[in-house]
Order: sequence, then C-alpha cells, then structure tokens
Amino acid sequence: MRVADRVSVSPALTISGALRVPGDKSISHRYGLLAAIADGRSTIANYAPGADCASTLACLSALGAIVSRTPASRDGEAPMVTIEGRGLRGLRAAAGDLDCGNSGSTMRMLGGVVAAHPFISTLVGDASLSRRPMRRIIGPLTQMGAVITAAPGDRPPVRIQGGDLTGIHFTPDTPSAQVKSAVLLAGLQASGQTSVLEPASTRDHTERALAAFGANLTINGRFIALQGGQRLRGTDLTVPGDLSSAAFWAVAAAALPDGDVSIHNVGLNSSRAALLEVLRRFGADIDATVDDTINGEPIGRLRIRHRRMTDLVIAPGEVPEVIDELPVLATLGTFGGSVTVSGAGELRVKESDRIAELVAGLRAMGADADERPDGFQVRSGRRLTGGTVHAKHDHRLAMAFAIAALGASGPTEILGAEAVAVSYPAFFEDLDRLARR
Ligand code: S3P
Repeated sequence: MRVADRVSVSPALTISGALRVPGDKSISHRYGLLAAIADGRSTIANYAPGADCASTLACLSALGAIVSRTPASRDGEAPMVTIEGRGLRGLRAAAGDLDCGNSGSTMRMLGGVVAAHPFISTLVGDASLSRRPMRRIIGPLTQMGAVITAAPGDRPPVRIQGGDLTGIHFTPDTPSAQVKSAVLLAGLQASGQTSVLEPASTRDHTERALAAFGANLTINGRFIALQGGQRLRGTDLTVPGDLSSAAFWAVAAAALPDGDVSIHNVGLNSSRAALLEVLRRFGADIDATVDDTINGEPIGRLRIRHRRMTDLVIAPGEVPEVIDELPVLATLGTFGGSVTVSGAGELRVKESDRIAELVAGLRAMGADADERPDGFQVRSGRRLTGGTVHAKHDHRLAMAFAIAALGASGPTEILGAEAVAVSYPAFFEDLDRLARR
C-alpha cells in the first residue's frame, strides 16, 4: 500500500467505531529472528505489514533463511509468513550489506544474531537510522567476543565480525528492550550463561518468544538469564494487534467529546499496557479484556471512551513503558488538560529527535508547547488552528500530528506522511473510517 507524502486532515466532531490494528511490530521482528535460527519451519500469522518488519525479513533472507509469504485466507487478513529456519548459528554470510531501512529494532536485534556467526556482516540503514547510537549493542557484543566497527560516534554502518561468543552478565546503563534482546539472542548462541539485569523493566516480548520456541529462561523481576546452546523448535505463531498502533485511536477517543472506540485482537502484554493506566489517569473510561494467551502473549479487546480531561504528568519511572506512545500522548495537551513529560531524553535518539520535532510540529499547529532537555510540556487552554506540519520521516510523529489535527479549528497538512508505512500503512484509511465530521 502506497501512502501519499502529503495528507490533509480535517477536524472531527468525534471518533467512534470498532477496528483491528496491524500486527505488533516488536513481536513480529522477534518471531522472524527466532524462526530464522530455529530448527524446522515456523509460520507467523498476522505478521506486521509495515516496512520495518519487512526489513527484518529481507535481512533474514539475505542470510539464508527461506522466507515466503502466502496470501491471507480471509479478506483483510495479513498474509502468513513462513520461515524455514537454519538452526542455531546456521545462517550464512550475506552477499551484500544488510539493509535495516528505518528500523532500529532490526539493526540492534539482528546484531545480536549475526555476532554469533563466523563471518562479517555489515548492517546499514536509512538517513534516520544512520544517526542513531549503536554503542549500546557494540559494548556488550564486543565483550562477548564479536569484533565490531562503526562510523564515528558509534553510528551505522555497523560491521560485525562474528564468531564463537562467551556468555556475559550485563547491566545496561539505559533501559532498552532492543539491547536486552540483542544480548539474549547472542547469549542463546554463546557458550555458558548470559544474563541481563535491567535498570528498569522494558517490554518482555523476547523472553516470551524464546519460551514459545522452546527455550528455558530464568526470570526474576528485572533479571533474565539463559543458558547458551539451547536449540529452538520451529513453531506456529500468531502476532497480536499492536497496542502502540491502537494508542492513536485510544488517545483520540479519550480526547474528543463522545469519543468511543473498540479495538479487537490487540496485544495486552502488561509490559506495554502502561498506556492504559496513563489514559485512565487523564480521565478516559477504559475496558480491557484478555480473551486468550497465544504463544505466551495475552490478546484481547479494548474499549476507550471519553469521560473527562485532567492535567497529566508522566514521571521518569513511567517513561520506558510508554516510550513509543509519548508523541501521541503529548497531543492530549492540545485538547484540554496539560501534558508534562520528564526523564524521556531517549526520545531524542528515536526515528527523529522526538522532543524537538514533536514540539516544533505542535507549535506549527498553534499549540502552547515547550521543549525540555529530557521532555516537554504541552499546556492546555489554546485550541489548535491547524496549518502545515512536517513529520520529519518519523512514522509516530506523522500519526500523532494527525490525531492532534482532529481537534483543530481548521485543516492540517501533514508533509512526510508516507512515513506511516513504517508501522501502519492503512493508518489514514482507518482515520477516515473512524472520524465523524
Ligand atoms: C522496541 C523497543 C523500544 C521502542 C522501539 C521498539 C522493541 O526501543 O522504542 O520502538 O521492539 O524492543 P528501545 O529498546 O531502544 O527503548
């Protein structure tokens, strides 16, 4: 699906309806990576449709995994991905660079996989990814025995000479699920035990996915350990809907008078669900029901209704679990109830500098908003006018600006809107279906 690079979004009276959101991006990457190093065939239903997860599959094919997509059996369903795994440390050298596109998750987690393979891999990315810090994986993977070089400032391209790794006990400085995962994936293929003690809890999809492929892990709060050399079994998997994509509709429903949106088949993993607590605090009425647990991931239904709006403060301790939702949560401050975020310096090294670009964009639409070194404040009391705003090639900014635009007095032109294809190619179609004008 091709998305126009310039999209106009009109104000809405409210938002309502029911939908399914695309498959979870974080979980799709992990299922793809683990399937490629498992023994035998895996099938992945509802694999995320965005460009980021396609980058992971393209890299895995380049490394010798046999990846195919079979058409969906039902209308509107995502195609099924089938991967013939090559077994632990069974990948082979790619003929060229491994292009991770815009995807930090691909580069960091694939880094952990190829570090255990006895050949050179060069991981490259687009202009945005080429600015993002990779020291955080280079450090531990080097300690395990890989030889790694990168561009100045430890930026991509990252060249990894992999080989026989030794397990380590790692304590990251920054909470990061990607880094934890890179170390665990390398540790699975290393000799001895590998463990990670996180400074704060982050999403635990890698741990659950490893267990779904038959690995044994020891988990004790923020401490995770596994024994190297465990072989994974190919398996049949289903990816839940992405709660970070659902977040756009949840915020819109919480913010617009009479807002009422239901989302089915969505992942409700507690390490991602802090968003719901934050929205409840803001004043939304939220029903969340877990219907099933598939491959260790809870999946269910969400209904979000507008009730009242209060000032919202997001404290540093909450940030790691809502890191991807902060751009859209910021827009709550443009509907009523200010939003203050601190301890979120990590936002500056995401797909864009999400503090600077978010505040610049919201201000261009008429918001009363300020940057802080490690966060931002969006003050209530000023209705947006709309205007022209640039998403700076950042998918979550493009979608956050579209949600803010629903509450403006005039239309908003979003430039760089094609970035939504990174995680949610049908975003603007769903917006048109749900917005009541
Ligand atoms: C992700 C972890 C987070 C998040 C990213 C996806 C993951 O990044 O921002 O969009 O799938 O593990 P960090 O691990 O760098 O915080």
